[in-house]
Amino acid sequence: MKKRILLGIISGLIAGGGLAGCSEQNSTQKMAGVPSSSSSDSSTGVSAHWPQLTSGIARDPSVEARIDALLAKMSIEEKVGQMIQVEIRSATPEDVKQYHIGSILNGGGSFPNDNKHASVADWVALADAYYHASMDASDGGVAIPMIWGTDAVHGHNNVIGATLFPHNIALGAAHNPELMRKIGAATAAEVRATGIDWVFAPTLAVVRDDRWGRTYESYSEDPELVRAYGGEMVTGMQGNPDAEDLLQVKHVIATAKHYLADGGTLNGIDRGDAIISEEELVRLHAQGYFSAIEAGVQTVMASFSSWNGEKMHGHKYLMTDVLKDRLGFDGFIVGDWAGHQFVNGCSNVSCPQSVNAGLDMFMAPDPSWKELYKNTLAQAKSGEIPAARLDDAVRRILRVKIRAGLFEAGAPSERAFAADESLIGAPEHRAVARQAVRESLVLLKNNGNLLPLARDQRVLVAGDGADNIGKQSGGWSITWQGTGNQNSDFPGATSVYGGIAEVVEAAGGTAELSVDGSFEQKPDVAIVVFGEDPYAEMQGDVSNLDYKGDADLALLQKLRAQNIPVVALFITGRSLWVNPEINASDAFVAIWQPGSEGAGVADVIFRNAEGEVNHDFKGKLTFSWPNDAQPTVRNPGENEALAQFNFGYGLTYGDTVEIAALSEQSGLKVSDSAEALAVFNGRALDPWSFQVMDTANNLSTISSSVAKLSGISVQSVDRKVQEDSRRLRWSGEGSAMVGLFANSRTDLTSYLGKQGALVFDVKVDAAPSAAVSLGMNCGTDCGAEQSITELLKGATPGEWKTVAVDLQCLAEAGAKLDMVLSPFYVRTAGALDMTVHNIHIASKAESGVDADIHCG
Ligand code: BGC
Ligand code: BGC
Repeated sequence: MKKRILLGIISGLIAGGGLAGCSEQNSTQKMAGVPSSSSSDSSTGVSAHWPQLTSGIARDPSVEARIDALLAKMSIEEKVGQMIQVEIRSATPEDVKQYHIGSILNGGGSFPNDNKHASVADWVALADAYYHASMDASDGGVAIPMIWGTDAVHGHNNVIGATLFPHNIALGAAHNPELMRKIGAATAAEVRATGIDWVFAPTLAVVRDDRWGRTYESYSEDPELVRAYGGEMVTGMQGNPDAEDLLQVKHVIATAKHYLADGGTLNGIDRGDAIISEEELVRLHAQGYFSAIEAGVQTVMASFSSWNGEKMHGHKYLMTDVLKDRLGFDGFIVGDWAGHQFVNGCSNVSCPQSVNAGLDMFMAPDPSWKELYKNTLAQAKSGEIPAARLDDAVRRILRVKIRAGLFEAGAPSERAFAADESLIGAPEHRAVARQAVRESLVLLKNNGNLLPLARDQRVLVAGDGADNIGKQSGGWSITWQGTGNQNSDFPGATSVYGGIAEVVEAAGGTAELSVDGSFEQKPDVAIVVFGEDPYAEMQGDVSNLDYKGDADLALLQKLRAQNIPVVALFITGRSLWVNPEINASDAFVAIWQPGSEGAGVADVIFRNAEGEVNHDFKGKLTFSWPNDAQPTVRNPGENEALAQFNFGYGLTYGDTVEIAALSEQSGLKVSDSAEALAVFNGRALDPWSFQVMDTANNLSTISSSVAKLSGISVQSVDRKVQEDSRRLRWSGEGSAMVGLFANSRTDLTSYLGKQGALVFDVKVDAAPSAAVSLGMNCGTDCGAEQSITELLKGATPGEWKTVAVDLQCLAEAGAKLDMVLSPFYVRTAGALDMTVHNIHIASKAESGVDADIHCG
């Protein structure tokens, strides 16, 4: 009866997140969840697809002996404390001392004293405070230095004045693994200067569906390139395994993330589900981990996502049997931002399942970490978390700390290079970043060989990306989403315009900055810098590959219409459909998100002072570029015919290629049908299915006529015809939710203009005993909820009502209507008995509505 489906998207469920899933999963699950015996090593159960690897850092018996001695002295409280990582906004040094906390982190856009402009000295002082707290053994405990992790994903990006390297998608295009070593080393040095030990990078995602908002954190859709880069980046950050200064001095501990197949989720949904076979999992998504492990990477971060419905944070086979046993990873696995809470049966404050599956350190960023500590301690004491597992987790954490020399290093401020401000944005680091910019640019079109440009010209520089360092840096830049910054937040950085102005003016030309493209004197050439605004995880997902830039297109066309040669510089975190923009330009360059060294662009697109090619284009696409905007996956070997520019494409100055007008058919359906869209009419209509998250955090797809789950039940009942309605009963024993969810997005925007509403019939048999919310969801932290408490309370028992919620009002409250995953769900922690019938999206005027749910 109850069919547990193991779903992708459950993150942030209560905070406006949603469930998603689809019934086809059940078959794939059987096929791929567990390796078939024919291909597995019978002694371990691990599939033969996995190689046997050895970590680049050899096991040292003297280190193990030290660990034995420490473990023997540690209390169970201290052991559990090591396994909890807290965030600087929700734990004080006093907390670290009292709970023997093993690690701290600062999330994206989280700074000492909540001060975005915190100085290097502030960072080091905070690191010292936590360190001293961790070493305080006045309560009779064992002094164990804490480690601090940070998201230095393209340079030390939370720190003002740091060098910001181009995002990974750009680095991929450079096809230069050695450069990764230099970038890793420079990043590590800047991190060290702030007293921090550990970096949550590199991301080794192999992104297959570019709608994912983290596509730019991926080097490539090609696993070989990710493999070639992963190990180099780890070596750059951690140092050479044989070197004296491995993991210390100017090096840090690196993290391979997000394990595994974060880039393989169905429909590119953030935190979604990779529904693929084990062979594909290994061939496509694991390759980067192989080189990272061989380079000795010391930590691995579990992915929020699932493999065939099973959350990675609870995946014993992949975390323990594969990663630790087969792949020889002897460092520790850290969770991702309370990701344990989405494991079946877990919550934010309790998840022995994760530990038992192999997670060694919980990332517990919010203030509820104390509860998590308490519960984990109780589970360790009761044996629910076996002592051997507890000791293994702590052993791994201590191993990494000892290898990194933390026990001898002294306070962060006493370590080499601590508080050395000259390292932050150091000229030699910026030079590496500028080289990376130069090598990453991909020339898509150069009709009439317009590029390279002569310097001594009258150059107009237009577009909202021209002099906008925040925009050219993308997400994870000072702030988490990369938004809300100004050029003054990036001291020492150069905008794309800044770089152009420098070369042109030095040669006697003029470079006029004019965002809207207006001018007094006609320029010889116009350079238009435009593209995606910054975004990061959750907020960056899109429903199709269309670049929505009508204003930019108009600007290109306006300049072209005045017979001005136009160079388009496209800032983007993914391959998007820009055929109209390409057609409206003479030359078109994908500049990705170059970061703080915008001058690297001028290095390439201008000739040198002698009029010769200065730097040729080296960048080649590592993501197939789409020939229309449809949400079709395009990768080598997958819909290659639908690529406008194939993987590996990129012109150089030696090429003479004329790109004729490209098709401007986006392929997107302009749906303006006035017809209602049925979501549930006795059965859940494709792509949706009825799903429940019960009070124990278990997810189920309801495919039978009666489903009784913890604290909630769903039953098919008759209104007009047999089983055309669903009776939903909450017991009041805890929060539970039920609704219609999909693993693909639906665009409801065409209903907006027609007074569109979410319309359904409801009958109440027992009024709610607590607040009830009706929601629409579009992913993690994407969605809107409205209270329906009063409506349900006011309903006459047993009487049907047609209810409508304006789509406009849901959109204003945060539902992105072009990417809906769940058009309807209801949740409450109270008791309630209600029945729903005929759920659809329709024009309100035509629906004979009895009650409106008002915004707010
Ligand atoms: C992201 C990780 C990141 C962590 C800490 C998570 O939401 O998925 O990539 O390392 O937050 O900020
Ligand atoms: C936090 C960031 C963090 C992110 C991870 C946000 O809510 O403010 O600091 O990196 O979550 O998901």
